Amino acid sequence: MSDFDPTALIRGAIAARDRAYAPYSHYAVGAALLGASGRIYTGCNVENASYSATICAERAAVARAVSEGERSFVALAVVSANGAAPCGICRQVLNEFGRDIVVLIADPHGALLQQTTVGDLLPNGFGPEYLA
Ligand code: THU
Repeated sequence: MSDFDPTALIRGAIAARDRAYAPYSHYAVGAALLGASGRIYTGCNVENASYSATICAERAAVARAVSEGERSFVALAVVSANGAAPCGICRQVLNEFGRDIVVLIADPHGALLQQTTVGDLLPNGFGPEYLA
């Protein structure tokens, strides 16, 4: 599946954002990852009293998808209050599963603020091909 409905994906990320556990930063993030199967896996940020143990929304979505057996992805939508792009660690984790994954950055109203790809977000990334 290479064609997809961006609105549905963004809606999934908005719903996931409502479940964010962000008592420290109060910065809620939601993500929705579309698998090649057509299934959507959502994630939210899960903060921790030991701050560095925090998990970002995007990585939560990847972990959920892989845990459920999906490893091939078409697109990721990420939603935050002001349209943040995935952090560096999340870019690296996404890069593991494909540089062609489309990344949609949206706001909580569903407005698409930016469309890019993992490859564009992480130029010259280190991926599994180096270890093959
Ligand atoms: N956060 C994400 O969930 N994704 C990102 O790509 C950037 C940051 C979260 C982590 C933390 O809970 C909060 O946003 C503030 O950094």
